[in-house]
Amino acid sequence: MNHKIQSLSGYINEYQESVDQPEKFWNGIAESFHWQKPWDNVLSWESEGPNVKWFENGKLNLTENIFERYLFTHANKTAILWEPNDPNEEGRKISYLELYEMTCQFSNAMTSQGVMKGDRVVIYMPMIPEAAVAMLACARIGAVHSVVFAGFSSSALADRINDCEAKMVLTSDGNFRGSKNIPVKALVDEALEKTTCVEKVIVCKRTKIKVTMVEGRDVWWHDVIKNEAIEHKATVLDSEDLLFILYTSGSTGKPKGVVHSTGGYMVYTYYSFLNVFQYKQNDVFWCTADIGWITGHSYIIYGPLLAGGTTVMFEGIPTFPHPGRFWEIIDKYKVNQFYTAPTAIRALQAKGLEPLEPYKLDSLKVIGSVGEPINEEAWHWYHDNIGKGNCPLVDTWWQTETGGIMISPLAGITPNKPAHASLPLPGIQPIIVDAEGNELKGNNVEGNLCIKFPWPSMIRTTYGDHKRFKETYFTTYPGMYFTGDGVKRDHDGYLRILGRVDDVMNVSGHRMGTAEVENAINEHPNVIESAVVGFPHEIKGQGIYAYVICDLKGLSGEALIDEIKNTVRKIIGPIAKPDVVQIVSGLPKTRSGKIMRRILRKVASKDISNLGDTSTLLNPEVVDQIIKGAKN
Ligand code: PRX
Repeated sequence: MNHKIQSLSGYINEYQESVDQPEKFWNGIAESFHWQKPWDNVLSWESEGPNVKWFENGKLNLTENIFERYLFTHANKTAILWEPNDPNEEGRKISYLELYEMTCQFSNAMTSQGVMKGDRVVIYMPMIPEAAVAMLACARIGAVHSVVFAGFSSSALADRINDCEAKMVLTSDGNFRGSKNIPVKALVDEALEKTTCVEKVIVCKRTKIKVTMVEGRDVWWHDVIKNEAIEHKATVLDSEDLLFILYTSGSTGKPKGVVHSTGGYMVYTYYSFLNVFQYKQNDVFWCTADIGWITGHSYIIYGPLLAGGTTVMFEGIPTFPHPGRFWEIIDKYKVNQFYTAPTAIRALQAKGLEPLEPYKLDSLKVIGSVGEPINEEAWHWYHDNIGKGNCPLVDTWWQTETGGIMISPLAGITPNKPAHASLPLPGIQPIIVDAEGNELKGNNVEGNLCIKFPWPSMIRTTYGDHKRFKETYFTTYPGMYFTGDGVKRDHDGYLRILGRVDDVMNVSGHRMGTAEVENAINEHPNVIESAVVGFPHEIKGQGIYAYVICDLKGLSGEALIDEIKNTVRKIIGPIAKPDVVQIVSGLPKTRSGKIMRRILRKVASKDISNLGDTSTLLNPEVVDQIIKGAKN
């Protein structure tokens, strides 16, 4: 299989072909995979539903395209290089053959425990190879996995289990993260008090902390695999059968379950991985994300393994036990492509150059960024000090919903331009529109980013709520997928992502709805009303600023603020904890009762020189009070 673009002119030609004849283009790429039965139709699409099907009626199993396809040629090649949290513990090196056997054995175990095709399985696990096995085994038996980031609280976990009506939860006893030992299984127990759908929990032993096992429900991973065969015939699936559900935040309501299906996701993650990173056989690829996010799904697990590559999986955090940990791992495994988030880059940049000194970093060929806009200063620091000025830096723009990288330089092919995601991948048709939906053509334009034609790994629906899917993505600009991001096309025609234009924040590369945080804050009994906005934060990109009206009921302001922060931590998880909580007497509202977030955003950003017209407010006097009490 060779679908790798080799040059800029090659890219330009391939892009043009993909726009002129998208079906022919994707047909050519999909054909090189192993299908049990070919598709009748490459694409069927109607934007009213909206309904999209790629490789309609094609039959396959994605894992056969990872395992059976490669076992003859590189059974002994390393699939996963696992690095533990503690550098003194031995890492693990898992070959394609071993990963195949582990996956088959666990597929058999899950089947014996009652999981069938189409059942939902929630994975709430640390970054250990068994988490990869769990995902692959679901794909092998046709169960739909929904990975929940192990840093989410038990209540966030319960919401997700309930929403997808999971039959099984896969977890571990604990999770080593930095200096912490998080009691993961205890959190699952708490979550299961609020759910009734889960029949079985399989627990993988990692930290050896004591756990409570519920008779008849909880079983140990090592026990259930013990007598299972290391072969498992893959279930034949339809191209459009669900591969996974992944929950993500939106501007309203609870997180929604983004649904991805099998065939299109497989084709696109493979193609984008190969081309963006210019991956060559025998390269070592490392994406530092967690498998709880889409980046982990597509570029730790599926993309690299579908390309027959070697993928590094790291259990820990960038600063433990020392701030050179990432660089140490790059040298240890001779990593060739390194893919991380701007928030990690900024945090490590803040430690200065000393932690870099012991390391060579000379194996690196490509460095990448994902998850949030990368500011120019961080871009240059990363490019100069990690890439040593001679590694292409791929700033990759995409989303949970897009399944794979959409806009990005191709390493070494697209000329690098700091802080620009640059150009769309073949098959991707971005369009910039103004508020009314008029296309802004030409260069030097700024507007909202939409995608006007389907691509194989696009979201199919929001789980259990197709209406919400349509309303969220296809209603603002009928017929087009609306990303929620602002974008600029510069004088060279290169795209620069400007950030969200809706009520979604991006905190350390994690997506967080303002409404979601407000709902959590409002759970505190003393809180009457709250409004949450993002503000610029040096390391996190955006921080969370909460304005809260409350009844002190004898508590001190400071004590209440701590309680409010902890409420959010408990309801969502530590990543959603507000950086600033300001107790206010009122919130600026329009005469129709709508909170004027624009004013709150400006105050939180210390940008009060031009607050605009406040005279139309119902309560203009609160603006001054808020400015006086601002805590930023
Ligand atoms: O605002 C964009 C930002 O992250 C959002 C998607 O978040 P999520 O679904 O969690 O997926 C993150 C990882 C793919 C987008 O709407 N974003 C992602 N990548 C970039 C980015 N913003 C600017 N530049 C990027 N490279």
